Amino acid sequence: MRLVLLGPPGSGKGTQAKLLAARLGMAHISTGDILREAVRTGTALGRQVRPFMERGTYVPDELVSALVRERLSRDDAPKHFLLDGYPRTRAQAEALDRLLAEIGLALDAVVYLDVPDEIIVHRITGRRVCPACGAVYHVENQAPRQAGICDVCGAELIQREDDREETVRERLRVFRQTVPEVVAYYAHQGNLLTVDGSADVDTVHQALCDKLQEVTPGC
Ligand code: AP5
Repeated sequence: MRLVLLGPPGSGKGTQAKLLAARLGMAHISTGDILREAVRTGTALGRQVRPFMERGTYVPDELVSALVRERLSRDDAPKHFLLDGYPRTRAQAEALDRLLAEIGLALDAVVYLDVPDEIIVHRITGRRVCPACGAVYHVENQAPRQAGICDVCGAELIQREDDREETVRERLRVFRQTVPEVVAYYAHQGNLLTVDGSADVDTVHQALCDKLQEVTPGC
């Protein structure tokens, strides 16, 4: 199966992508995670994209699409994958279509996780992440067993730099501005599914699987 997960910042794309990838045995490809890792390790790409991420704006289309191309076209690239946070613009959606046509694959579905802004702000301000293993928590909704400590590896949890309130507002503004063209693009192709992402994690996961059953059995 090949899926795209679309949704506003903090809508739960990463959380649901991990659950789905584990359930369906797909590779989870998150452009946000790849870019953050590049920034953390100080690569040339990281130095290039850092200012955009700090401001909460999008990284240029050519850079992100080149990154996804590199992941999906190498010899050992996964054939079953879930793209989390890509594409986010029409230019990226078109670049993805060109790439998929070249490698002879097609998307099964594009899922839009719909969550209103007031829930998003609560989710993002309460998010804590593990800098060592990447696990994601929420201080209330998905609290670690010991406050501030990762359940998986015991490292001290941190807040993402772009989760500051003014950056979150900018990320939301950019998202709301660009998402209509992407939604329209996939609605026109006939493979867009919308899922209410405002309930708790398990309820959203079940709703997602129910929707996916409609296009492909086995979820
Ligand atoms: P990215 O990391 O993709 O950020 P984002 O899209 O803003 O999404 P988030 O990671 O903030 O949230 P999420 O939807 O994954 O939610 P999560 O599951 O963590 O991108 C970061 C930056 O990189 C961008 O701003 C941009 O600069 C750049 N970038 C990346 N891709 C790009 C692209 N394609 N083009 C251009 N630039 C790009 O959940 C959030 C919190 O809520 C967590 O605490 C979680 O525990 C909790 N939670 C999750 N689900 C629920 C639930 N159902 N109920 C209650 N709590 C929940």
